[in-house]
Amino acid sequence: MAFAATRLTAFSHGAGCACKLGPDELAEIVGPLADHPAYSSPNLVVGIGTADDAGVWQLDSNQRLVQTIDFFTPIVDDPFDWGRIAAANALSDIYAMGGSPITALQIVAWPRNGLAFSILAEVLRGGAEVMKFSGTTIIGGHSIDDPEPKYGFAVTGMVGTPITNAGARPGDRLVLTKPLGTGIITTALKRGACPPDLAASAVRVMVELNASAVQPMVDVGVNAATDVTGFGLLGHLREMLIASGVAAVIDAAVVPTIGDLSRLIEAGHYSGGSQRNLSSVRPFLRGPTPNEATLKILADAQTSGGLLISVDADRASALVAALNHGRSSEAVVIGEITAGAPSVAFS
Ligand code: CO
Ligand code: CO
Ligand code: CO
Repeated sequence: MAFAATRLTAFSHGAGCACKLGPDELAEIVGPLADHPAYSSPNLVVGIGTADDAGVWQLDSNQRLVQTIDFFTPIVDDPFDWGRIAAANALSDIYAMGGSPITALQIVAWPRNGLAFSILAEVLRGGAEVMKFSGTTIIGGHSIDDPEPKYGFAVTGMVGTPITNAGARPGDRLVLTKPLGTGIITTALKRGACPPDLAASAVRVMVELNASAVQPMVDVGVNAATDVTGFGLLGHLREMLIASGVAAVIDAAVVPTIGDLSRLIEAGHYSGGSQRNLSSVRPFLRGPTPNEATLKILADAQTSGGLLISVDADRASALVAALNHGRSSEAVVIGEITAGAPSVAFS
C-alpha cells in the first residue's frame, strides 16, 4: 500500500514482453549475423540459428551450460510483483529447455530523479524472493540511470540433454501449460481499465514458475518445447514449426484464457507488440481461421507465459497428468503437429 500513489506502469512505453522487438525486425537484424564467426563454435550446442529460448554450451563430455537474458519495463504497478514477474520470466527460458538455473545477474535501469530508490528496493526484493524460491543465487548485476525503468536477469543453468524447439514430429500432441491473456490484461491495467480480479489472476499466472514442468517433461520424454512470451502463442509456435520443419493444427476453442477477455478486447486493449505479432503470423495461417478476437488472444504477447510442449501422442495424457499434479494453472492439449511446410490450420 505504501506505493499505491506511484503508478509504475505510467513510466513504461510498452507492457512487459510486448516491448520486445518484433519477430520480423529480429530476423532482419540478427539473421545476417548467423554466419559471423562470433556466433559459432565447436562447443556451441544451441545458438541463434533456431530462435531457441536459451543458448547451450558444451562444457565437457557430460556437462552443458544453458544461458539466457530477459528484462522489461514495468508491467504492473506494484514494485514487488514486478520484481517477482521479471524473475519468473527470466528463469523461464532455462526451464523451457529442461534445465536447472544456478546463478543470475541482475539488470536495472532506473530514473534516479524520477522514482524513489525505496521503490527500486521493493522491485529487487521481489526478484530475490523468486530467485531464492527457484534455488538460484544472484551473483551480481549492473545498473544505469534511465528515464524509463527496466528490470530483469541474465540466468545461467545446467542441462542434461536440452529440449529444443526443433524436435516436433508429425502426430505429436501440443500441450500448453498456462492460460493466455497477460498482454491484453496488462495493457488494460496500464490504461487504468482492468478489473482488479483479472489483474490479480494475471499476476498469479505470471509469478508461477515453469520449473514445475521440467521433471514431467524429462520423466515422460518430450520432443520439443518453448515458452510462450513476447511473440504470443502463434509466434512461438511458428518458431517451433520452422525449426522442426512441420505444420500444426490448433483447436482454438480449447486454448485456455485468464478469465473472459472479450470486453477488454472490444474496448481496444491490445498492445502494438501483439498487433505486430498478429500481422507477422497471418501469412502462416491456413484455411478457415477463428474470429478476430480469438486470433488476437492467440497472438497476444505474453509475459512469463507457460510452456508449449510437443510430445508423442501416446505420451500426451501421462504428460498432462504429471504437469497438473499439484499446481493451479491447468495444462491442456491444444492441437497436434502435422506433416508439411510450416503453417498453422484450425480444427
Ligand atoms: Co523463451
Ligand atoms: Co527470452
Ligand atoms: Co558493469
